[in-house]
Amino acid sequence: MKKVLLSGVKPTGRPHIGNYFGAMKQWVELQVSQPATDKFFMIADYHALNFIQNHEEMKQNILDVVLDYLAIGIDPTQSTIFKQSDVSAHPELAWIFDTITTMPYLMRAHAFKDAEAKSKEIGVGTFNYPMLMAADILLYDATTVPVGQDQKQHIEYARDTAEKFNRIFGDTFILPEPLIMKEVAVVPGTDGQKMSKSYGNTIPLFATDEEIKKAVMSIVTDSSGGIPKNVYEIHKLFRSQLELDRLYTEKAGKYKDLKEALIADISAFIKPLREKREQLAKDKESVLAILKAGGEKARVKANAKMEVVREKIGVKLY
Ligand code: TYM
Repeated sequence: MKKVLLSGVKPTGRPHIGNYFGAMKQWVELQVSQPATDKFFMIADYHALNFIQNHEEMKQNILDVVLDYLAIGIDPTQSTIFKQSDVSAHPELAWIFDTITTMPYLMRAHAFKDAEAKSKEIGVGTFNYPMLMAADILLYDATTVPVGQDQKQHIEYARDTAEKFNRIFGDTFILPEPLIMKEVAVVPGTDGQKMSKSYGNTIPLFATDEEIKKAVMSIVTDSSGGIPKNVYEIHKLFRSQLELDRLYTEKAGKYKDLKEALIADISAFIKPLREKREQLAKDKESVLAILKAGGEKARVKANAKMEVVREKIGVKLY
């Protein structure tokens, strides 16, 4: 079985270091460690439409994510960078999946339950979110989906849906596996909860020095034995355990010094990424050309799979 990697980000705002360490960093590493594997890195704009319903903002966010991908080192000659809306097979397959899926099954999704617990009015797009994501993954015969822990259930939905379709219509889809790095499965935010745009506890991946300083200074410092846990947990992303333990023992109880050390480490890490991104942003045309070419490539693969799907379900008559 040919190995195929697929993953993506919703263009709902600036990515944070949780997105990067939890998922995107692995994508770049896999590019190096698995050169022969087909790799698809998607911009999930139709998923983002559940959150961003503004023409200018959506357009800008999409372009921003392409820049983010390129700046962290996704290489368009090795990986296909594309946006979901360039491949209409995604919503098409999602519809087909809707017809074999029950409402009680979708009501078990974490995102749905969270929205329900907050008594929010739940959009049909939010409800069906897992089916579109199943289509994203299954269309490309993806074997491996590198993500953070919060996406695990979505990949289980994709597996279940593939199994169900295969049972009804015959062997068609490959069952994908999540690839979740244990140490960074849930990167904590400045308040110790999971780092998330919706919690307002993020450190943006391409933050300016000022933003880094502000975010680190806002880290909640509850400590045990002089070690501020939330500072330490974020610091772990930037230094080896050995170096950190030495630093945190030496500076035990000195929260300001430890936060300053963290600011220096994050700034040193982000600076070259930010500079590369600024450079790339100067040539918008080339960036858009990469996205367009990626869409064309993705479309070829997805359309071929859709032909098989249409044949299986009995709608392909000629
Ligand atoms: P999104 O845009 O919310 O997040 C992108 C990636 O970042 C990971 N992540 C984290 N990892 C560790 N710690 C955190 N605090 C943290 N916050 C976010 C996410 O797990 C994710 O891997 N539904 C997806 C987008 C998507 C997709 C797909 C992904 C659409 N179709 C198909 C894979 C395959 C999402 O909303 O990710």
